[in-house]
Amino acid sequence: MPLKKAMVDWDSLGFNFLETRSMYSANCNVGEDWENGSLIPFGNIELSPAAVVLNYGQGVFEGTKAFQTCDERIVLFRIDQNARRLAWSTERLCIPKVKPDFFINAVFETVKDNLDFVPPYGKGSMYIRPIVWGVSPALGVGPAIDYRFMIYVSPVGPYFKGNLKFLNLKIETNFHRAASKGIGNAKAIGNYSASLFPLAKAKKEGFDEVIYLDSVSEDRIEEIGSANLFVYHDGILKTPKVSGSILKGVTRDSVCKISSDILGMKVEETDVFLKDLFEAKEVFCTGTAVQITPVGRISYKNKVYKYYDGNLGPITKKIKETLTKIQRGEMNDPFGWLSPVSV
Ligand code: COI
Repeated sequence: MPLKKAMVDWDSLGFNFLETRSMYSANCNVGEDWENGSLIPFGNIELSPAAVVLNYGQGVFEGTKAFQTCDERIVLFRIDQNARRLAWSTERLCIPKVKPDFFINAVFETVKDNLDFVPPYGKGSMYIRPIVWGVSPALGVGPAIDYRFMIYVSPVGPYFKGNLKFLNLKIETNFHRAASKGIGNAKAIGNYSASLFPLAKAKKEGFDEVIYLDSVSEDRIEEIGSANLFVYHDGILKTPKVSGSILKGVTRDSVCKISSDILGMKVEETDVFLKDLFEAKEVFCTGTAVQITPVGRISYKNKVYKYYDGNLGPITKKIKETLTKIQRGEMNDPFGWLSPVSV
């Protein structure tokens, strides 16, 4: 029997928020464990204007997805990796640690209660957004004394508008995304607010996103703010090695594993210099939201580098197809990345 579905126009999904039935909520006081975890109807929340999150940005989040497979299962993709990253992000922002088991149970409960909002097979995915923030009021800079953890979900389609979108990127020379020993490797809300101004400016200039350079020597690429980057040249797939300023992307890691263990490619997590980018045959970005999106053009100081000949590059194509097939259950799951929510 086909799975029951909510009243949603599944053919016109973009990366826009659509309200669903319920959200997960839990609280924590400093020095105690997370408690009162339960589902509540989706709705607005109350917050003091003096809350630490609003004044000092003490908040982190996650992004993960549920898919409907070709054999009508609903599955989560590598949820253990998001659990590990959230544990790190909370620690880095002085938030009581959200432990992996607690996190994974909460994600399962939320998805199960909103199962009919998971798009049908091949039509998109359910984006799952866990958020954690400091609630209590404070005037002086310091961590909050009580915290809230919530998860909401939304059915989504492609992050970038357009069918097979080739991104037009600009290398940002006026702004950095994150300091080399800052919070760029935590999924902190402040990292995303830092990217809003350069992004808005780039969009006005006709670009889709910006590539950030390292903040020390400015000769190495880091990430694009909403996603990690890969370059392919001379038989080697390279991606910037994780550091204090680069987020440890789950899709990034999946692409490394697929490329080396399934496709037998040489993969390097290393410094990726501007020269590597300019000489590359194929460039693509990876993220939970963007999945694998090819890059068509990159502009740097009035020069334009083109990577697009009208088709998806053969390496990008193979990697994208393999990841998509694993997520949709169209091939076996050699790494055990899928966790079924329902059968
Ligand atoms: C994700 O890929 O899940 C993210 O959190 C990136 C965000 C810009 C949508």
